[in-house]
Amino acid sequence: MWFLGMDIGTSGTRAVIINEQGQIVSSASEEHAPFQTPHPGWAEQDPEDWWRAAVVAIRAALAAAPEPRQPVAGVGLTGQMHGAVLLDAAGRVLRPSLIWCDTRTQPECDWLHEQIGYERLIELTCNPALPNFTLTKLLWVKRHQPEIFARTAHILCPKDYIRFRLTGTYAIDVQEASGTLLLDVTRRRWSTEVAAASGIPESWLPEVFESTEVCAAISAEAAALTGLSAGAPVVAGAGDQGAGAVGMGILQPGSVSATIGTSGVVFAATDSPVKDPKGRLHTFCHAVPGRWHVMGVTQSAGLSFRWLRETFFAGQDYDALTAAASRIAPGSDGLEWAPYLLGERTPHLDPTVRAAFVGIGTIHSAAHFVRAVLEGVAYSLQDTFTLFAELGIPVTGIRLGGGGARGPLWRQIQAAVYGHPIETLTAEEGGAFGAALMAGVGAGAWPSLDAACAQAITVAERISPDAADMAAYRTGYTRWRKLYPALATLR
Ligand code: XUL
Repeated sequence: MWFLGMDIGTSGTRAVIINEQGQIVSSASEEHAPFQTPHPGWAEQDPEDWWRAAVVAIRAALAAAPEPRQPVAGVGLTGQMHGAVLLDAAGRVLRPSLIWCDTRTQPECDWLHEQIGYERLIELTCNPALPNFTLTKLLWVKRHQPEIFARTAHILCPKDYIRFRLTGTYAIDVQEASGTLLLDVTRRRWSTEVAAASGIPESWLPEVFESTEVCAAISAEAAALTGLSAGAPVVAGAGDQGAGAVGMGILQPGSVSATIGTSGVVFAATDSPVKDPKGRLHTFCHAVPGRWHVMGVTQSAGLSFRWLRETFFAGQDYDALTAAASRIAPGSDGLEWAPYLLGERTPHLDPTVRAAFVGIGTIHSAAHFVRAVLEGVAYSLQDTFTLFAELGIPVTGIRLGGGGARGPLWRQIQAAVYGHPIETLTAEEGGAFGAALMAGVGAGAWPSLDAACAQAITVAERISPDAADMAAYRTGYTRWRKLYPALATLR
C-alpha cells in the first residue's frame, strides 16, 4: 500500500507518496500564482488556483512513482494555516481567500478583545486574537463586504477546501481548527461561546476530527481528474506546523523543533494545553490525539538572510556568505540584528516594529553583517525558549529543520544560543511527509503516529554546543534583549 500526503503551501502545492515503511516513493510540486496585495498588508489567493495546482501535483507524483505500482490507500492533507475560504450553500467560492500573512484585521482583533475580553478569549480558545487567525478575517468580511457575508454558508481553511474538492466533504482537524480562534482548544471542539459572541453561525463550521481519523473518501469526479481511486480514504490531516512536526517526530512532551524557513518556528509537544496568560505563544491541539503543542513564531527568520543577500550581496551564494561569516568571532564584535522586517509575533505581538542593525563601528566588515543576522535570528528563536522556561514547558531534545538546519554555521550558532545539543534528520521532507504518515495511520499501516515516526524518521547528526560560544551568546542574548524595548519607542 502507498499513502499520499498533500501540502497546500503559500508558494506552491507538493504531493509526496510514501510506502508502508515510511520511505518516499515519489514527489512532485506545482507553483501557485503569487498572492495578491491590493492594499499594503493585504494577502489574498484564489482557492481555484490551489485546486489546479493540487490536481497537477497529484498526477505528477503518481506518474513519477516507480513500477511496480501499489494502490494509494490513504490521503492526508496539510497546508498554509489560518486562511479563510468562504463558500455559498452550493459550495462555490465567494471571494479570494484572505491568507495567513494578511494583516488588515487589527481592528477586528481589538473588537474581539473588547467584546469577549482578552483573558476570557485566552481561557476559551487558549489564544488571543491575532490578525493571522481565521475568525478575524471573517469579521473583516462581515464589516466590509456584508453582501458576501450574507451569502456565506460554509467556511474552510485552505487545505480543507482541497479536501472539499477531492471528496465533497466539509471537514477540518483539531490542529488546524485551533488556528481559527473558534476552537475550544482544551476540549477539542468548536467554542459555542466564541461563535455566538462574534456572530458566526455554527452551521458554517465544518465537522472537527482528530488528525489521523478518516473523515472523507475520494469522489468519482476527483478520481477521474487526479488518477486516485474513487473511495480512497482521506484523513483529517493538520496545518503545516502540525504536520511538519509529525514529519520531524516532534510528538512526545519534551521534544522540540526549531525550524528556520521564511519565518522561524519553535514548536514543543505538550501533554496538556499550556496557556500563556499573556498570549505570546500559540497553544494549539497537536495532530496526536490527546496531546497539544505550543509554538512561537519569528516572522522574518530565513527571510532576514534572504533580504540581506538580495539587498547587499546580489549574485553571491549563501554558502560563500556563511563561510566568510564563520571566520568572525561569536558576537560579531558587537554588531547586532533585530530581525523585525515584518514586525514580530513571539514574544512581542507587534506588527509595526521594524528591524535594525545596532552597534555598527569601523571594525565591521560585510561578513560581520552576515554573522550578526544569523545570530539575531537565533536570539529571536531563543526568545521562545525563554518563554518555555517561564511557563515550565520541558525541553529534552531539539531538532533543527528548514534552511537553518542545512549550513554548519547556523547549526552551531543555534546549538550555542539555545545552549542545548541539537539533532538534524536524514530526510527533512516537511509537512507533506507528515500528512502522508497520518494517512498511513488512518489506513491502519501503523497503530499510531508515534509508531509511524519511530519507523520512518532517523537522526543524521547530533551537535553539542561549544562551551566558549555558549558563554559568549549568553552575554550576547542579554544585550540583544535590550533592542526591542528601544526600537518600540521609535514610532
Ligand atoms: C502558522 C503560520 C504559518 C502558516 C503559513 O501559525 O502562520 O506557518 O501556516 O505557512
